[in-house]
Amino acid sequence: MDKIRKCLFPAAGYGTRFLPVTKSMPKEMLPLVNKPLIQYGVEEAMAAGMNGMAIVTGRGKRAIEDHFDISYELEHQIAGTDKEWLLGDIRHIISECTFSYTRQIEMKGLGHAILTGETLIGEEPFAVILADDYCVTEGDGVLAQMVKLYEKYRCSIVAIEEIPREDTRKYGVIAGDLEAENLYRVREMVEKPDPAVAPSNLAIIGRYILTPDIFDILRETPPGRSGEIQITDALMTQARMGNVLAYKFQGRRFDCGSIEGFMEASNYNYTNVYKRPR
Ligand code: G1P
Repeated sequence: MDKIRKCLFPAAGYGTRFLPVTKSMPKEMLPLVNKPLIQYGVEEAMAAGMNGMAIVTGRGKRAIEDHFDISYELEHQIAGTDKEWLLGDIRHIISECTFSYTRQIEMKGLGHAILTGETLIGEEPFAVILADDYCVTEGDGVLAQMVKLYEKYRCSIVAIEEIPREDTRKYGVIAGDLEAENLYRVREMVEKPDPAVAPSNLAIIGRYILTPDIFDILRETPPGRSGEIQITDALMTQARMGNVLAYKFQGRRFDCGSIEGFMEASNYNYTNVYKRPR
């Protein structure tokens, strides 16, 4: 099966940078104005033709499940009022998508979180969204851009952007050979390298398309940076066989994993994205 139908959302992290708000609230539920971060991710996946949302959660994340479900009491309260339109988008999402969940019991890295999601994905290519990378685009969303590439190249694809060299410690960094405009065939990828040894300033951002052999590779991937199982290391195994592309996406990313990026995204969203009452 080749069409990408499912999108995996690793959502088990503690969100310690946002404490105390993340003490009892999942960081994926932090709002940009009036929608939680993870909803923007789900909307991006839907716009790329996916309707199976696979969410890897952990303890204290039940608000995510409740968000993507009907609230009968609320529906009853606002039916027929001038507030009803506010639920339009989320109602549409709930009716078009299926949501499945599994819990990551121990925090052993992004690679481990993705492997935990295997049970929800099975043997098919899939997308991954890290909801704290919020992306805005003028045309197609980032995942839709990547799905088009997948249809042509049929291999794993990571989204990248140029970053200042001193920031390489925050990201997976790639080096590769130009395959087409804005597209590299990956030769090397390193998780959070020192600027002095980083292979380039092209950083991976939180959008991936992965072929399902990644699960077997992840099972064999030893802990890497920070003692965690890194998706970057597993992808390097695919890249050695020439099977990973890196795509410089069209659009703008906000790092909502940091307070500064989150505030910038909130302001941008309030001015440019937020739908005002009619
Ligand atoms: C993860 C990945 C890293 C990637 C980043 C994008 O890191 O491990 O390769 O560049 O997401 O946001 P994290 O931000 O979870 O530390």
